[in-house]
Amino acid sequence: MSAQRVHDNERSYAIELISAINDYLHGKDMHIKRAGGESTINERGRVKFPDVLLFSDRQRSTILQGWEIKCPDVKIDDEAFVSDARRKAELLGCNSCILWNFQHAELHVRTKEGSFEILESWTISERITDRASINAFQGEWMAFLHSLVDTIELFIASGRIKQRELGEVITDSVMPKIINDNKASVSTALKGRTAVDALVDINIRSWWRTVAKEYTLDESDAYCAYAKMLLIGWLNKFLFANLIKVYYQDAREVEGIAEGCTVEDAARCFALIASRCGFYHLFNSPPYFDSLPEATLSDLVQFNGLLQMCDLDQLDSRYRHRLLEESISSAKRQVSGQYPTPEPLARLMAELGVRNATGHAWDCCCGTGTIGKALWERKVKLTEPVMDDAADRAYRTTWLSDIHDFPLQVATLALSPREHIDSLLLVFQKNAFEVEPGTMVEFIDPSTGEEVGKAVPRFDTIASNLPYVDFNTKEIGRYSQIKDELKQEARAAGIKLHDRNDLYCYFCLYLERLLNDGGVACLLTSNTWLFSQAGVSFFEMLALKYQIEGVFVNGQARWFHKTKVMNALLVLRKKKPGDTPSDVRMGVVHASIGDLDDPAKRSAIVESILAGSDRSALVSQHRYSLEDIRRFHAWGITLYALCFGASSLSPLAGKLVPISSLFEVFRGVKSGYDSAFYSDDPCFVDPPFCFPLIKNLRGTHSYTLEPNQYVFICDKSKDELAREGHFKTLGHIRRHEAGVTESAKSNTPYWYSLPAGKSFHFATMMNPGDRLFFAQAGGDVCFANQRLICLRALSDHADLPLAHALLNSCAGLLMLESSGGPMGDGALDNRKESLASLSMLDPSLVAPESRQAILNAFEPLKGRPVKPLREELYEADREAFDKAVLQAFGLEDLHDRIRNALSTMVKVRTEELP
Ligand SMILES: C[S@@+](CC[C@H](N)C(=O)[O-])C[C@H]1O[C@@H](n2cnc3c(N)ncnc32)[C@H](O)[C@@H]1O
Repeated sequence: MSAQRVHDNERSYAIELISAINDYLHGKDMHIKRAGGESTINERGRVKFPDVLLFSDRQRSTILQGWEIKCPDVKIDDEAFVSDARRKAELLGCNSCILWNFQHAELHVRTKEGSFEILESWTISERITDRASINAFQGEWMAFLHSLVDTIELFIASGRIKQRELGEVITDSVMPKIINDNKASVSTALKGRTAVDALVDINIRSWWRTVAKEYTLDESDAYCAYAKMLLIGWLNKFLFANLIKVYYQDAREVEGIAEGCTVEDAARCFALIASRCGFYHLFNSPPYFDSLPEATLSDLVQFNGLLQMCDLDQLDSRYRHRLLEESISSAKRQVSGQYPTPEPLARLMAELGVRNATGHAWDCCCGTGTIGKALWERKVKLTEPVMDDAADRAYRTTWLSDIHDFPLQVATLALSPREHIDSLLLVFQKNAFEVEPGTMVEFIDPSTGEEVGKAVPRFDTIASNLPYVDFNTKEIGRYSQIKDELKQEARAAGIKLHDRNDLYCYFCLYLERLLNDGGVACLLTSNTWLFSQAGVSFFEMLALKYQIEGVFVNGQARWFHKTKVMNALLVLRKKKPGDTPSDVRMGVVHASIGDLDDPAKRSAIVESILAGSDRSALVSQHRYSLEDIRRFHAWGITLYALCFGASSLSPLAGKLVPISSLFEVFRGVKSGYDSAFYSDDPCFVDPPFCFPLIKNLRGTHSYTLEPNQYVFICDKSKDELAREGHFKTLGHIRRHEAGVTESAKSNTPYWYSLPAGKSFHFATMMNPGDRLFFAQAGGDVCFANQRLICLRALSDHADLPLAHALLNSCAGLLMLESSGGPMGDGALDNRKESLASLSMLDPSLVAPESRQAILNAFEPLKGRPVKPLREELYEADREAFDKAVLQAFGLEDLHDRIRNALSTMVKVRTEELP
């Protein structure tokens, strides 16, 4: 008998068992309410469901147990039989399964350790030995079946057999499994298409270039990511069509997608549903959507069967709602690997952004729609008390768009009404740079199925989490043009807009065109522009176009789980004609996502920000005039530092001097061939060519540098070395000759003549961690490697001990911390250039008695290890020293403010990733 025939038999036996169980259950009040599984039995796909399923509700939304059915020619302990049954139970998250071959039956249950074991086994009838006897002794297995159902009922009552909600099963197990099991083969199918049509590769790679950054946590291969996106798209179509059947008769067409259907049949069916029910982005088909191997289509058909089996349209609407919510968050988790904006943060942005709830609001880079949904909810909340049609009105004024079609599917799901409505969903696909007021966008009207065009209005609110695409992208249409226009506009205002601003900076400026006068943009960006050179002119442009109601950085944990990304939240109000420039607010939101999820805490934050006053301990903010900001910039202080109240440094005006007027600032030596030039062994070459090296300050525990390696520096020829008897050095050179790097080849006169670099007086680390300090070089000639930034006094008469103390005072260290920003991994993003443009307390202003007091107070610190800054600042000797320094400048009152600002900045920067 062919395998297919065997299977057909088993399938019909399974169907017989299902109806026998249902007959037995009829009229009884048991935990087991129904059996099912008819529509999911399929041998062709990769993902398989049990042949028989027991449910604990009549709608079949809660699964109790799966059964694996075979004929007696498959032994009850057959390895494949057992493992299939257990695997299917796992897929459904069930803790038990039944194996049944008409001769024997077994109940397998999951142990506490997670493996399955046999709990009970039964002989149904010794007389049933082959297929013919199944029919002959039907009475025997039927009687046993009834007793088995009763036994299972007892196990359920005792809690040994547990149930699982279908919603969870679908979103947490089945969808991820179908995606994971099929993404490689779909990706291979896509590659197959590329082999015969080079354009496919061009299109997939061009898509990938604009999204790759969003996928960093997830997929690294363009084809796999695209395959995954296609699969999620298909699964969403099935799920959503089944969920909306209850409101839209036409969505029932999905039931026709069954075994034997082709990909084209399925696509036609969804196109029909789209044309009659709307939800275009969900049902529409992205390029190459039909690259589905047969087994994948089979899995999708089974998935459809599973959805139908559980009578989604009979479900209580709360349950249907929950299933939708679960599937949205599951899609978000897997989609895209994008960083969906956490919901509480989206709500905060909506609450900050929506001031006129009847005006139009837009998320121009909506991704999976989290912010769009929050905007809609906020509008409903504010208008409900005064308007009967609040929900409909909110739909008519909430716009969502994204450059990619795919996240829009999830966005459509997120925004979809829970009940039937006739409003259009204003969700569209467009590059935001191509949207202008008046741009016509097409939508499908769900009440007529007709296309309707709508002109994009000017908005009262734009709230968006802008993409993390860096400055050199060339993929986004109209980007260069907009950039040029904005640069020209900036030039006219005397601002030189830098070319190295990331894409989101241009977005922030561009969006002003789409706002009504007085309209608000609440935008989330990465925080890196706040400490980049390019960020300053961007900020000047922002201030030209908007009243900056706030630039806030996050001060507690990361808002995006498991990423290094730290954010800036911008609250900008478009200037009205005649508006005069007002102060700018910059601050820190010290709230975790958990805090933002608490409505009371969130409203207190919103009130503080909108009112510009401290109504919540979770927000700290500082006012600056543009002149202040320019002055701080001239001192080398970044915008990022201003958020933390570097304003406490204002009284230093007139007491500072540029570091570069006293010191030359440079980086240590870059060897380009570390193994040849550096060693831990002080005797690796002959003594005249071996010098102490400071590799980093990790091993330096005091304010005096401790060399931690040795460097080879030599400009003698090999002949000279031989003549002078430096054979060790010669041997060292020969040993490394074969691997000379390109960079070493450029050394002169010989590849091993490393430019010695300069000696120096002080050094500090590039990218320091929690210890922040300037260390002084000891007596010996020594060199630093490139991880150090070195300071060498320009004058032979410089007062080095005093300069060293001033640089290491709390004011000096706040300046150092304020010259950079957090790298996201705990380190400070500082550079030689940032230190070279920084200012320090002016040593020439210190009176002789104060000088001595400072040096005396510094002495105890030099005799002990340098501690992590947040401890260091609170040590008694350090406190006395800092006060002595501030006193010398008449600034002792500043001590607390400086210490607080510095310790908060270091805390935020070094806080561990969640
Ligand atoms: C950080 S994600 C937004 C996340 C979203 N708030 C969510 O919760 O899923 C940025 C989005 O910007 C979109 N995007 C990138 N460039 C765009 C452009 N030029 N126009 C419109 N959208 C763009 C990306 O496709 C991505 O979905």
